[in-house]
Amino acid sequence: MKALVRTNYGMENVVQVVEVEKPVPADNEVLVKVRASSLNAADWYGMAGRPFIGRMGGGIFKPKDKRLGVDFAGVVEAVGKDVTDFQPGDEVFGGRNGALAEYVCVRKAIVRKPANVTFEEAAAVPVAALTALQGLRDKGDLQPGQKVLIIGASGGVGMYTVQIAKALGAEVTAVCSTNNVETARAIGADQVIDYRRADFSKSGQRYDLIVNVAGAPTWAQCKRLLTPEGTLVLIGAPKGGGLIGPLSYILKMRLATGLARRKMVFFIAQFNRPDMQTLADLLESGKIKSVIDKRFTLEEGAAAFAYMGEGHARGKVVVEVSKG
Ligand SMILES: NC(=O)c1ccc[n+]([C@@H]2O[C@H](COP(=O)([O-])OP(=O)(O)OC[C@H]3O[C@@H](n4cnc5c(N)ncnc54)[C@H](OP(=O)(O)O)[C@@H]3O)[C@@H](O)[C@H]2O)c1
Repeated sequence: MKALVRTNYGMENVVQVVEVEKPVPADNEVLVKVRASSLNAADWYGMAGRPFIGRMGGGIFKPKDKRLGVDFAGVVEAVGKDVTDFQPGDEVFGGRNGALAEYVCVRKAIVRKPANVTFEEAAAVPVAALTALQGLRDKGDLQPGQKVLIIGASGGVGMYTVQIAKALGAEVTAVCSTNNVETARAIGADQVIDYRRADFSKSGQRYDLIVNVAGAPTWAQCKRLLTPEGTLVLIGAPKGGGLIGPLSYILKMRLATGLARRKMVFFIAQFNRPDMQTLADLLESGKIKSVIDKRFTLEEGAAAFAYMGEGHARGKVVVEVSKG
């Protein structure tokens, strides 16, 4: 089968399509023929081998695991003998390392794809929307009627964060750049602040929850905006450089909020089937929709990574892996 891999760390020129052995499902696994995949920032970091500290365990000089991608949507082709909840022909979506390939074997992070969404729309969902869901509901404890500020509302994670916050009953203010203001409104944001034209930290508003997806606000700015009991959830951080990259921003914020005795949470989203099912239900009901910025083929994988690396995607970057 064809798969997108990188044999060295580097920029997009290390990304190539190669022929690899088709995987065979273990007794408890499902073999999926991948129709579409989507890129996440973590895929770009994995390609680049950044930050350097992230190479610990995964290969200091070269990646031990050459595969790329996590998100997928496709059709079950075969199941292991212990699998009872899926059968060949089921349309599914989920997450597994090496999803930028024609086939992937999956154990738990998989659910049925709602019939009213395409494979591309479903493939856009897993990592980005799980992050949004877990950030708002679990880490931010968002309640109906609360006010939430979402900084970096226009990328892959941001677009789902706005929609899931609305689905949870919140009043949403989205921060994005000029080009994305209309899209942020169209997906449900109650207010939109264009960060190129206005300083959102001087709006005079107070929020129960701030979710930082892609900006780099200082603690002084966040403090001005949070209610006394408010929470700051950090999903993303500027790429940064050196040994620890984005971690330097997160550590700085942790120190500042710790000294101020205020609640700040940074977390890494985790796959689990109940949350994937929640996302499938939200898709089916139309409460969340995937906004797809660009589509690439597997052969155009390097270009897809280059585009992702620019950091200005409007919604998701999707890779069409195979036709039906
Ligand atoms: N914690 C986790 O588990 C987890 C999971 C997934 C992703 N992440 C992190 O979340 C971040 C976003 O990921 P993504 O997949 O959404 O990336 P993405 O699709 O590349 O989106 C990046 C977005 O950031 C916006 N942006 C850039 N600079 C900004 C600024 N100063 N203020 C406001 N918005 C800004 C861009 O919009 P404009 O073009 O309008 O600037 C773009 O739409 C990354 O740092 C990633 O590592 C964390």
